[in-house]
Amino acid sequence: MTPVDNFAPRVLAWFDEHGRKNLPWQANKTPYRVWISEIMLQQTQVTTVIPFYHKFMASFPTVEALAAAEQDEVLAHWSGLGYYARARNLHKAAKMLVDGFDSEFPQTVEGVCELPGIGRSTAAAILSISRGVQAAILDGNVKRVVARFHAVPTWPGEKKTENALWDLVDHYMPSERCGEYTQAMMDLGATLCTRSKPQCLLCPLQTDCQARLTQDPTQFPVRKPKKAPKPVKSLQLLVLMNAQGQCLLEKRPQTGIWGGLWSLPELASDEPLVLHIEQRFATQVTAVTPLSSFRHTFSHYHLDIAPSRLHIADTHLVLESDKYQWFDPQDALAQGLPAPVRTIVTLAIL
Ligand code: ADE
Ligand code: SF4
Repeated sequence: MTPVDNFAPRVLAWFDEHGRKNLPWQANKTPYRVWISEIMLQQTQVTTVIPFYHKFMASFPTVEALAAAEQDEVLAHWSGLGYYARARNLHKAAKMLVDGFDSEFPQTVEGVCELPGIGRSTAAAILSISRGVQAAILDGNVKRVVARFHAVPTWPGEKKTENALWDLVDHYMPSERCGEYTQAMMDLGATLCTRSKPQCLLCPLQTDCQARLTQDPTQFPVRKPKKAPKPVKSLQLLVLMNAQGQCLLEKRPQTGIWGGLWSLPELASDEPLVLHIEQRFATQVTAVTPLSSFRHTFSHYHLDIAPSRLHIADTHLVLESDKYQWFDPQDALAQGLPAPVRTIVTLAIL
């Protein structure tokens, strides 16, 4: 992603012709007035914001007026805009500015970011638009423009990609006309480089936009990668009960799932249950009760478990290894059992 020359001059020349210049917050651009507009515009369309902005400014013309207001009064002015945390944070920040900052808006992005409800991009927007500070924004619109212009191949939600985008916008931020450039980038994203059907033929960046070279610029920004669905495995787990009411536990191998824990004898989901057990343990099954199947999900797969309870006639079934052991049910539950195994044993002895 090598930066190009002339990025900002082209965007500014386009803004001079086509940008929005008569929005209410573009007159008398004090930090306070720009701040309020940027917060309102965070989650709300320009046309919706305009009447709310006028009313808000009429009621709270200064940061002191906002700080002195009751929270209810501030929230009432927000009624209809939604996302009320924005209003509560504005009110809180106004009080902080009046109490701790002598009513002066901070001069740096870091300083502005200390105020509740303001992140790096919003801070840069307020400072560049109201004071001409050379600080680049990276809101949703600008992310889209830059990710398309450079055909950024990874999802901007990843930290590495986001950092790369910040580096690019920092690089492109001009040292003159900073506020107009900020507004120009917002306008470009909002009016030409729109989410669907971007109007590349009208765009000042069309000659070297990398997304435009592809069939479909809307492939950028690249979407969040879908996680591959987890595979599903299945097995049967068996609660074998002897004539004394004891149940058989089997020690898992040290490696693999439930390594080293006591578990239940298992077999593949499609294996004939009774035949298998009678051969494996040289015994006779006298009763079989299927228990409810359920799914247990591990980090890398789903395991569908079909449990059954089997009674065998023997009382002194001889087991060939210490891999198997008979337990009274309460003793079995006192062992370190994997959660699903504990559930099955509990159900089996109810
Ligand atoms: N959205 C966020 N900030 C904006 C601004 N200053 N003008 C238009 N739309 C915006
Ligand atoms: Fe967006 Fe098209 Fe302009 Fe590229 S050329 S920045 S895709 S509007």
